[in-house]
Amino acid sequence: MRHLMSPLDFSVEELDRLFDLANDIEKNREKYSHACVGKKLATCFYEPSTRTRLSFESAMLSLGGEVLGFSDAASSSAAKGESVSDTIRMISCYSDICAMRHPKEGAPMVASTHSRIPVINAGDGGHQHPTQTLTDLLTIRSLKGRLSDFTIGLCGDLKFGRTVHSLINALSRYDNIKFVFVSPEELRIPEYIIDNLKEKNIPYEEVISLEEVMPKLDLLYMTRVQRERFFNEEDYVRLKDFYILNKEKMVLAKDDMLVLHPLPRVNEISVEVDDDPRAVYFKQVQYGVYVRMALILTLLEIDTTKL
Ligand code: NCD
Repeated sequence: MRHLMSPLDFSVEELDRLFDLANDIEKNREKYSHACVGKKLATCFYEPSTRTRLSFESAMLSLGGEVLGFSDAASSSAAKGESVSDTIRMISCYSDICAMRHPKEGAPMVASTHSRIPVINAGDGGHQHPTQTLTDLLTIRSLKGRLSDFTIGLCGDLKFGRTVHSLINALSRYDNIKFVFVSPEELRIPEYIIDNLKEKNIPYEEVISLEEVMPKLDLLYMTRVQRERFFNEEDYVRLKDFYILNKEKMVLAKDDMLVLHPLPRVNEISVEVDDDPRAVYFKQVQYGVYVRMALILTLLEIDTTKL
């Protein structure tokens, strides 16, 4: 039995197969619509989420399966003091696969060691968010036709943004990727990630000005400032509008640069950018459902050749 804790749990070849499956699902939705009849997905969300949880639920329903779960720790037995390991033992009796989001780093990992069913990390604190990364990679691969040879700018809250940490981790395995980290001083990328890049000799630069690097980017990954992980409101207020991507800045970008964002967006991308063909963050949401469908099929070991 397999779980998904980090995007690195799958080899590059396995990811390719997963993305091929997701692209086939995109083209042949009907073929997969009964693939998970009789199976149940539990969504255990100890932290607020709409997109990720609904994306998982939509994925399972599109496969003909069913969903159950909770969307807030206060309405689960965690409020009574139940441990994650007890919860997953119980969930293992109620469902076939579980997607778990938790504010504590490593909680889904702890759950997986006590689980009889596959556990998917749907975001753990400021640590990892592997299914968002699968979504990001599928979007890039589908729209650009490759996952190598890119200069990618990651902009915003690089300190607390778990989607950023997961994406860097995953892209580091492809050839000729250059990272450009754009953040205010206070929200710089964690040192352990930089050490990792240095160790692998992967080129990166850290800058404050987005305008300055815009012309050389093939991909721009915008992120919101993660209010819930700040220690005080003043710092948040000071930093929240540090970057606002608008039409003016888009003029500086390549004609085929893609703008991605894991969403929710706050102010960091002006709505006037939404109509720009290079803005693909809403397409990304759709790819998120396809890749989660492919992931559920893969972890449940459903033989898709028989569909
Ligand atoms: C991201 C997350 O939860 O980390 N959202 C998501 O999964 N779509 C990004 C964010 O909350 O900023």
